[in-house]
Amino acid sequence: MARLVLGIETSCDETAAAVVADGRDIRANVISSQVALHRPYGGVVPELASREHLANLPTVIKRALAESGCALAQIDAVAATYGPGLASSLLIGLNAARGIALAAGKPFVPVNHLEAHLYSPLIGASAAEEMFPLVALVVSGGHTMIIHATDLGAHRILGQTLDDAAGEAFDKVAKLLGLGYPGGPAIECCAASGDPAAVSFPRSMLDDPSDNFSFSGLKTAALYHLRDHPETAAADVAASFQEAVVDVLVGKLVRAAARLGVRNVAAAGGVSLNQRLRQRLTAACEEHGWQLRLASPSLCTDNAAMIAALAYHQLQRGFPANESSHWEMDVDPSCGLGRSVN
Ligand code: KG4
Ligand code: ZN
Repeated sequence: MARLVLGIETSCDETAAAVVADGRDIRANVISSQVALHRPYGGVVPELASREHLANLPTVIKRALAESGCALAQIDAVAATYGPGLASSLLIGLNAARGIALAAGKPFVPVNHLEAHLYSPLIGASAAEEMFPLVALVVSGGHTMIIHATDLGAHRILGQTLDDAAGEAFDKVAKLLGLGYPGGPAIECCAASGDPAAVSFPRSMLDDPSDNFSFSGLKTAALYHLRDHPETAAADVAASFQEAVVDVLVGKLVRAAARLGVRNVAAAGGVSLNQRLRQRLTAACEEHGWQLRLASPSLCTDNAAMIAALAYHQLQRGFPANESSHWEMDVDPSCGLGRSVN
């Protein structure tokens, strides 16, 4: 019989709930976006985000259950993101999930948001077990990292950004260009009519032997370019900036995969929605004869299906779901990928 997990995600500005069977079959994936609420501020306002989660989460959970056709009594476990993210936002989802699990007498599974992004390309993939070992790029508004995974739950960070995340750079440069929020999709759209070679932006750390990244210099270069050459078309700046980010992300990912001799490469997180990045990764993997695993678009940005799916795998691995420490667990806003809750 299918094992059904109700997942809840409120780490940033998306209020999300999902029902996933056996870690792969998405029965419902409901996301209530707060983009319009935060747009006037050009970024996420933490207190507004948590209040909005508080207001919307019950409806989002009810919709997920209704769309899945499952009653709460049929759910086998309830999962929520414990971190990383905004503390006040995380608290809403974690506490709701724990309350539901407690009332319904189900196991409660705390899930790491980054780990959920990392394994999101597996969801619904055929032959997911053949995906390892792999080198993955997790690239979002808060993180940019290259990870080596030899199995589900067996991973280590090879490198990460030393300053801004790639998504953060997209958001900041979009703001400089007056393109609005969120910046990633706005830059991608604007870049479509621009020349990627118009402005020669730096490819920071591309030649550095580590797997680390740095995007703050690129953001500053965009600021100085706009100050010194205000006549440059926004589309050319957007296209040149996007190309610089993609060059670095693809260049470093390919180098890490080649060094480790893996044949599977994955990309996940909000920035992995970027079509130019997807094209360039596809071309690079074809050239090397590697399998490219990209999360499907609805699983790239924050969602609860990836939380429910990973919780299922954690339970399969013998995650001690009723251990009292999970019930007492606090949120961990800056936990990174490494923390083990087993
Ligand atoms: O994974 P996500 O939804 O949230 C975090 O965990 O951060 O990622 C959001 C980030 C934002 O910075 C947004 O600008 C970026 O992903 N993003 C994109 C695109 N769509 C979203 N960046 C580049 N191109 C896109 N098409
Ligand atoms: Zn995320």
